[in-house]
Amino acid sequence: MKTIIEPFRIKTVEPIRMTTIDERRRLLEEAHYNLFNLRAKHVLIDLLTDSGTSAMSQEQWANIMRGDESYAGSRSFYELEAQVKAIFGYEHLIPTHQGRAAERILFSIVLKEGDVVPNNNHFDTTRANIEYQKAEALDLVIDEGKIPSLEHPFKGNLDTDKLEAAIQEHGKDHIPMIMITVTNNSGGGQPVSMANIKAVSKICKREGIPLFLDACRFAENAFFIKEREAGYADKTPLAVAKEMFSYADGCTMSAKKDGLANIGGFIAMNNEDWAAEARNILILTEGFPTYGGLAGRDLAAIAQGLAEVLDEDYLRYRIASTAYLGDRLAEMGVPTVRPAGGHAVFIDGRAMLEHIPPEQLPAQALSCALYEHGGIRSVEIGTVMFGKTDPISGKELPHSMDLVRLAIPRRVYTQSHIDFVIEVIKDLNDNKEKIHGLAFTYQAPFLRHFTAKFRPVP
Ligand code: F0G
Repeated sequence: MKTIIEPFRIKTVEPIRMTTIDERRRLLEEAHYNLFNLRAKHVLIDLLTDSGTSAMSQEQWANIMRGDESYAGSRSFYELEAQVKAIFGYEHLIPTHQGRAAERILFSIVLKEGDVVPNNNHFDTTRANIEYQKAEALDLVIDEGKIPSLEHPFKGNLDTDKLEAAIQEHGKDHIPMIMITVTNNSGGGQPVSMANIKAVSKICKREGIPLFLDACRFAENAFFIKEREAGYADKTPLAVAKEMFSYADGCTMSAKKDGLANIGGFIAMNNEDWAAEARNILILTEGFPTYGGLAGRDLAAIAQGLAEVLDEDYLRYRIASTAYLGDRLAEMGVPTVRPAGGHAVFIDGRAMLEHIPPEQLPAQALSCALYEHGGIRSVEIGTVMFGKTDPISGKELPHSMDLVRLAIPRRVYTQSHIDFVIEVIKDLNDNKEKIHGLAFTYQAPFLRHFTAKFRPVP
């Protein structure tokens, strides 16, 4: 088979700048070993997130010029609404400035204190927005999804036995909705199978509980189904996506991922009463229902992005280029979440740096080392993000995994950028015993990873 190439050529370039290792050591110290505190100009290859970092196409930029900035009834809104109906199939579109605004609005309507929301794995903003309503976010991913090295085609699947048990335990009256995150970001960017979405949907229908997809990376999930699940090889990504959404009652979406846009999100759903309530909150906090916190040009860029993201050549390149990084690391013996996810490769920091105990934040230490040695920015998804400090003993209560996520922005980096990343990780892996652990010196009461400060543990 020939190399799967980038299915585009580059028309606009953005320079990136090398720094010296001494500069980066100083910058790391000044950033308190939290990579969110770095200035982007000091980063060579930015794999912090695939969110809002996509390169837009000539058609998206052209559509931006055509954006209709009318306060009410913007043409760009109706263009997006038509596109959302064609792909997602839901009746009501509530545009928001990004995914977490969609979550906040939906949960503030649907949840009350003491409620429970099951999901395969909640993303951090989803969990935080549920907890903000004094409800509980339950993670029910299949057990295979928790073993990083285990190969399985659909490690993002929600465990239906655990779901049945949760419904028994909490009662359906306390479960106002069930969610599935496609692909499962917090569980390694792993896909969910159509059979699993169908099975969860069946349980939801039996119990009368609405099912919502967290659809940020729906196109990548659709392509995995096409590649890995029997019966889908000949279907278009659009047909697969439509089928996925047909089993759910609505979705929350961050257009910063598979919308191929730099900002934006929405709720799409069939429930008319919830939609009416959502529009009222939208007017209060985001904007009039035909723009919802976005400029008309943003709506226009998302409408075009949603069409492009389902292009088969694009998706084949996208999934192959992430797998390229994942497979090279695996060949070098670097422990990663297997197989590679759709948007990111996750290094198992705890397994790679066995000499650093979980309380000393091995994945945070590895992400700092990647910056120090290569100017590469990644993000810790582990104890810093999801662990807790015991209020009585002051000890760290580690999360189940300590991962470093290398998220690949869409259509931004070429294969030689990724080859450079591979070379840096090889050097680190060959000298890993030189990497030291870290300890918290400051943390906020929630979403602590964004603002935490650390010090090296000698
Ligand atoms: N759900 C999932 C699965 C996500 O990955 C994200 C964002 C959100 C919801 C929230 O969307 O950022 O538009 O408010 N994930 C980004 C990331 C931030 O880096 O994985 P948002």
